Amino acid sequence: MSIALLILAAGKGTRMNSDLPKVLHEVAGAPMLVHAMKSADALDPSKTIVIAGHGADAVSAAATAFDENAEVVLQIEQLGTAHAVAQAKTALSEFEGDVIVLYGDTPFISPETLERMAIARASHDVIVLGFEAADPGRYGRLVMSGDSLEKIVEFKELSDDERKITLCNSGVICANSDVLFDLIDAVTNENAAGEYYLTDIVEIAQSKGLSATSVTCDESETLGVNSRVQLAEADAIFQRKARIDLMEAGVTLHAPDTVYLSHDTYIGPDTIIEPNVVFGPAVTVENGAHIRAFSHLEGCHVSRGATVGPYARLRPGTELAEFTKVGNFVEIKNAVIDEGAKVNHLSYIGDAHVGARANIGAGTITCNYDGVMKHHTEIGEASFIGSNTLLIAPVSVGANAMTGSGTVVTQDVPDDALAIARTKQVNNPGLAVKLFDMLKKKKASKAKGTS
Ligand code: UD1
Ligand code: CA
Repeated sequence: MSIALLILAAGKGTRMNSDLPKVLHEVAGAPMLVHAMKSADALDPSKTIVIAGHGADAVSAAATAFDENAEVVLQIEQLGTAHAVAQAKTALSEFEGDVIVLYGDTPFISPETLERMAIARASHDVIVLGFEAADPGRYGRLVMSGDSLEKIVEFKELSDDERKITLCNSGVICANSDVLFDLIDAVTNENAAGEYYLTDIVEIAQSKGLSATSVTCDESETLGVNSRVQLAEADAIFQRKARIDLMEAGVTLHAPDTVYLSHDTYIGPDTIIEPNVVFGPAVTVENGAHIRAFSHLEGCHVSRGATVGPYARLRPGTELAEFTKVGNFVEIKNAVIDEGAKVNHLSYIGDAHVGARANIGAGTITCNYDGVMKHHTEIGEASFIGSNTLLIAPVSVGANAMTGSGTVVTQDVPDDALAIARTKQVNNPGLAVKLFDMLKKKKASKAKGTS
């Protein structure tokens, strides 16, 4: 059975108080829309259609960045969820099979749940995904009679009795394409909100002698985000699950609640993550690495056996080879650090390549930016960069070379050479004692003057 995916993402999301369309607000570093598309990917849809309205250009860009075959259809006026689905009628006119309607603001429906819905279609015409809500709030309610779903009642239309129902509508619906558009045609906007409710198709199906039922899933999957508070709740749900998945896959988290993960964070088994570590998007960590407390990583790769932190910052384009060491208050950006090299203290390494087994002394800075352009620094293998060296890029230090502490490197250093660029030291015998005396007298005469 072929499946078409229809994602409703035209709404403004008034309660977000935002210029950004609601579905582009991020959970764990990816737009909610992308989370929804990702989970539906498991059904291998033959067509994916996104209904966009508010911020349609941005929504379209995000959708096609994730799936270049996604089609974006405009809903110019947002007249309700049924009206949104109706916009896809032309795009799906040739399509034969089932349509699954998802909401772009409901990011966590699992692939397994969608599969169960697709299977339930064997026995019923319309399948609605429901959940038992701890607090049903403003969700639409499912009115069941045995396993038959009689109707969905929207929050604004609830009677006092219906208010007590805790089985709620997630928004996800599955039906045959032709059946769905027939039902949609019959939806009117005669209700408290003056909107075309997609949820009305259930009662219409029943009146036409078609059958409807609900498949249920855990509430954590169906969280619909309408406000920043719910966005934070969605992130918390994501984090909890992602941390458990990591631990079950063999990663040690000393204080799991303090580790922030992204939607695509990969960490290999036997890696240890200490408390308060943040993983931004696009981070991969191999096996047996050690990420120490208060480190911040994004867009980087950490190889087997490497140690990072405490208090390290790895920015996009950082590539740490096996058994490298990056210590406290070190920032690395767009740089490859080869096997066994060490950058242990208070350094900035940007737009650089550090050779294997090189040792970068405390306070080393690659001066990569001249105010207009960025330049590359090359540091040879087994070299020793003295503390507080400034490397004015573009510049290179050869293999087995050294720089003296405090050196400002402005010219390339050949292999095996020692570069020193600092003023020569002069020792003046007895001058310290004389200077102390002079200063103490000065202080005493000042004190007299003010008394
Ligand atoms: C909807 C359901 C409700 C369910 C809840 C779950 C209806 C009528 N109600 O209510 O039963 O419990 O979701 O979260 O379906 N959208 C459009 N075009 C429109 C209107 C909405 O694309 O004209 C999109 C929105 O961008 C959003 C989704 O559809 O992604 C849901 O719309 P929203 O207004 O949030 O519906 P709810 O009132 O939450
Ligand atoms: Ca909603």
